[in-house]
Amino acid sequence: LAGATALVLAACGGGADAEGEGGDAAASGGKTMKLALNQTEEHPSYIALDHFGERLSEATDGRWGIEVYPNETLGAQQEALQLVSSGSVDMAIVSGTQLENLNEDFLVFNLPKVFDSVEHQMKVVQDPEITGDLYSSLEDSNHITVVGGFTQGARSVYTKDAPVKTPADLKGKKMRVQESDLHIAMAQAMGAAATPMAYGELYTGLQSGVVDAAENNEVSYFTQKHYEVAPYFSYTNHLVGLDYLVVNSDLLNEMSEEDRAAFDKEWTAAYGEHTQLWTESTEKAIADAKAGGAQFSEVDAAAFDQVLTPLADQFIKTDAQRALYDAARDAA
Ligand code: GCU
Repeated sequence: LAGATALVLAACGGGADAEGEGGDAAASGGKTMKLALNQTEEHPSYIALDHFGERLSEATDGRWGIEVYPNETLGAQQEALQLVSSGSVDMAIVSGTQLENLNEDFLVFNLPKVFDSVEHQMKVVQDPEITGDLYSSLEDSNHITVVGGFTQGARSVYTKDAPVKTPADLKGKKMRVQESDLHIAMAQAMGAAATPMAYGELYTGLQSGVVDAAENNEVSYFTQKHYEVAPYFSYTNHLVGLDYLVVNSDLLNEMSEEDRAAFDKEWTAAYGEHTQLWTESTEKAIADAKAGGAQFSEVDAAAFDQVLTPLADQFIKTDAQRALYDAARDAA
């Protein structure tokens, strides 16, 4: 370790001395990039990103690496995104809901029912014919490059006191949502009152009764221990959520062509591993949450479809959004 630290220090010092401030440090240098994550170390995103870092380091002879900071230690997503924009943090995984607040086109992929399955979603988000210049759209304004997506799987509702069958069962319930106007409207359409809140605050929010309900995938439901305080998981399957890997654009531009190619290659392997892990992790999360007392139940799917379907037309305002939506649906 001491040897490795000395090496890193020598490498950093050498770069600065040789090239001075504002020099093209990275063409020869590199960095162990700090990545902000709001998940635990057992979550598939942590595992896939950790492996991504290891492979990147190997592929670039140790020039570039990734240190994943889990559990919101570098801040909740809203803050992490700002830190990536300013360059204080190099990379982050953020939910699509956060990007929708910077460019309304991202909203399209946050809509209920836009993706039929994880497979459909991954096909869409990896197709440059569909995504066009969406992923580079924040570079000039925010210094943020979107590298690609990790699935969040299908999200469903969970509650403290009783299972949910129809939207009427959510009447009078306060449901935590991500910080997004669309998701506020979504919770309301499903019958609840919406409370936007950061992910890491939700366990306490449910426990103390600030909210009575939330919505997420089974993996988050289990790894965040939400099942302990909201044991009724009802399969509304209202949307297939999407996380993005975002990187500070200036840093990314500093990579040599060769290192950038290695980065892209290993990222492709990372989302492949993530998608594969997702299915196993979901099954394990269900079994473990059940063992911890959670109850999983089906809902009246048609009743939820009926209230959720109008959201697309309500929220799609521009031609660009409509084109993205149509292309995503055509790929179903
Ligand atoms: C999922 C998703 C996170 C998101 C969280 C939330 O866990 O992967 O990126 O922050 O849901 O509901 O806030």
